[in-house]
Amino acid sequence: ELPITVRSLSEAMGRPAKAIMSIMFKEFGEMVTINQIIEEETALAVALELGVDLTFKRQKGIEETVNEIIEQEDASEDLITRPPIITVLGHVDHGKTTLVDSLRNSKVVEGEAGGITQHIAAYQVEHNNHKLTFVDTPGHAAFSEMRSRGANVTDMVVLVVAADDGVMPQTAESISHVKASGVPMVVAMNKIDLPEINEQKVLTDLAAQDVLPSEWGGETEVVRVSALNGTGLDNLLETLLLTAELHELKANPNRPAVGVCLEGFRDEGRGSVAWLIVQKGTLRIGDAVVCGKSYGYIRAMYDDRDQQLEEAPPSLPVKVTGLDSVPGAGDHFAVLSDIEQARELAEERRHEGRTDTLARHSGGPRTLDDIMG
Ligand code: GTP
Ligand code: MG
Repeated sequence: ELPITVRSLSEAMGRPAKAIMSIMFKEFGEMVTINQIIEEETALAVALELGVDLTFKRQKGIEETVNEIIEQEDASEDLITRPPIITVLGHVDHGKTTLVDSLRNSKVVEGEAGGITQHIAAYQVEHNNHKLTFVDTPGHAAFSEMRSRGANVTDMVVLVVAADDGVMPQTAESISHVKASGVPMVVAMNKIDLPEINEQKVLTDLAAQDVLPSEWGGETEVVRVSALNGTGLDNLLETLLLTAELHELKANPNRPAVGVCLEGFRDEGRGSVAWLIVQKGTLRIGDAVVCGKSYGYIRAMYDDRDQQLEEAPPSLPVKVTGLDSVPGAGDHFAVLSDIEQARELAEERRHEGRTDTLARHSGGPRTLDDIMG
């Protein structure tokens, strides 16, 4: 920590040094020179006198710089169409993971403990030369948690409703979360291969939740599928691509990448691994990244089949290594021009996290008033 001088305080506040000197004299009876070192508490008092919230200002520095990078608008001529990011929601056991699996012809369900999805997983699928990204969640809680953190990665939702079961509590909860988010939704009426199904009941249940099926004159497409044997999956993909087209999803691939961490975990061999989804720009090996309270150079990048990649364009979910610690779900990431900036920001956030914890333990945050007595 550098000592505070009249000059540095004046620069930090954007106020003339003369004003500071004058307050020092009036309030503290001290005649100070421009290079004189002043106590932190005195500096805070002077700032307060000048109506500047100094603590606020000092914390914001890099955080603001990075937010500017994240929020920087792209010129419309730089934007190109990007794949939709589709979150799969629905009641337990209605077939979310099976659906995503058959869309990418893999066998994740068999490898899951007890067949219950514990973690978020994201995959990219190609249909008639168009790409779609699917995010399989352990439930709508993960979806709303992400949104509450401002990590709105979802462009569309596929609501899976088992045709032998209809709308169940978690289906209804998912519907209300989707409505609150304003994200477009397509219903996949699943398990139509089963003998004991009731399609009319599913439609009635949906209508009762104010989700009116298009076949009843409403706005929601309900596509019949069997995730198990593949019936209707092409139809579902086409409906999703059509919805995506209507919403003109675009991003600029030629800018430093920003996006969101879907999940972080520690891997025996690879160390800290972060499952990132790129929202704008292109992420590359060697990029200096800050992600929540973690930072580092991207050392290696893998797609959803653990194939190594050199770069990741918008909407592509990738697993990356190289961060110094494990970031959390919903943490934003940004590529910065130098690693020092990334390190400083990560450390500042860690420090703030600690101060928050300390403040909670000591009965609330210390304000300027506390310091002033
Ligand atoms: P959670 O992750 O626990 O919320 O479940 P999920 O919605 O991901 O369901 P999952 O894909 O694990 O499927 C639950 C069960 O339904 C499994 O036994 C699947 O084999 C079965 N299932 C999924 N889709 C179909 C289908 O189209 N037809 C039939 N007959 N069974 C299906
Ligand atoms: Mg699942």
